[in-house]
Amino acid sequence: MSILVTGGLGYIGSHTVVELIKNNFEVIIVDDLSNSEKFILNNIEEITGKRPIFYPFDLRRKELLTQVFEAHDIKGCINFAASKAVGESMVEPLDYYENNLFSLVNVLQEFRKRNISNFIFSSSCTVYGQADEMPIDENTPLKEAESSYGKTKQMGEDILKDFSRAYQKRVTLLRYFNPIGAHPTALLGELPSGIPNNLVPYVTQTAAGIREKLSIWGDDYPTEDGTAVRDYIYVVDLAKAHVAALKKLINSEEETVLDVYNLGTGKGSSVLEVVKAFELANDVAVPYQICPRREGDITVAYANADKAEKELGWKSETTLEEALKTTWEWQKYLKERTN
Ligand code: NAD
Ligand code: WQD
Repeated sequence: MSILVTGGLGYIGSHTVVELIKNNFEVIIVDDLSNSEKFILNNIEEITGKRPIFYPFDLRRKELLTQVFEAHDIKGCINFAASKAVGESMVEPLDYYENNLFSLVNVLQEFRKRNISNFIFSSSCTVYGQADEMPIDENTPLKEAESSYGKTKQMGEDILKDFSRAYQKRVTLLRYFNPIGAHPTALLGELPSGIPNNLVPYVTQTAAGIREKLSIWGDDYPTEDGTAVRDYIYVVDLAKAHVAALKKLINSEEETVLDVYNLGTGKGSSVLEVVKAFELANDVAVPYQICPRREGDITVAYANADKAEKELGWKSETTLEEALKTTWEWQKYLKERTN
């Protein structure tokens, strides 16, 4: 069965492509390489023994997208393609609305025209903002998003609700918490572009000596050690959830489905806990300094992922330490590649 994976050479997309191939899906990737690199395709082939079909173009180019749908009997889509830098989205909001929403609508139009169902959307815990109560379940009210990036996720969800209702389609919204880690082969992982904003890439680059010191944004939060708390989910676990969600959609007897799942571990970890776990797992030092809070940051967010366990038969399996080990191996791989 052919599945379109947009953004399939990106961080979460590439790990998901591997899991899809393992589960005998035929994968068709569209990725414009705006935040990924071609060698990832070779590495997917090295891991799985199969080379996915790959189209390098921007999903905003409707005519090229139509050709892909004409060439393949596509039965579903996992839509990873989006721009994801929170800070950049505040400086260039129109670029974010255009890329994240036009790309999405273009794929949905093809689905509508050809009467295809089974659509999975990469959403984010950012849609909840600072929730009033922890853990966050799928019924936790959404708050106004802190960033234009976050708004594209809320709008994307709304577009998909309308799409599912108006055209009787099967749709799943997956709200990821904080994805971390790399593939156990060290052949896939997060590609740092410039100075990382996210915690784990910054920690990793600091351990590798690329950055001098990690800045910990705030130690005066009302948490146990004063640093902010998040739910760090291992990327391969996350990838497996997509396969489970896709199978559920495909096997559904309902014409119209709108499922929403939180994908997290259910456990919160503070910034200092992540730093300590990284040091312990990899036997390296991570120099850090305490700095003022980062604007727009929330205090705490962690998931209640019981719904995904109950309905998808999926749960996170990998510990924080194990995930952080894979990140370090990936960093070493990247260093060897550039040497
Ligand atoms: P990523 O940047 O590594 O992957 C996205 C991929 O999409 C890239 O390979 C990029 O080249 C491609 N792309 C972007 N715009 C495109 C376009 N117009 N046409 C074709 N390809 C395009 O990001 P990721 O971390 O793998 O995230 C995947 C999805 O998950 C995104 O939608 C992101 O918003 C969402 N998400 C990510 C996180 C996270 O922390 N990584 C958390 C929650 C949600
Ligand atoms: C985690 C914690 C920082 C870097 C972002 C997006 C969100 C979602 C996931 C896509 C925070 C602290 C970080 C550093 C630090 N992405 N930190 N020093 O902010 O939870 O969420 O990624 O949907 O939309 O906003 O993740 O990794 O940036 O930060 O102290 O150098 O680490 O303050 O408490 P965040 P993060």
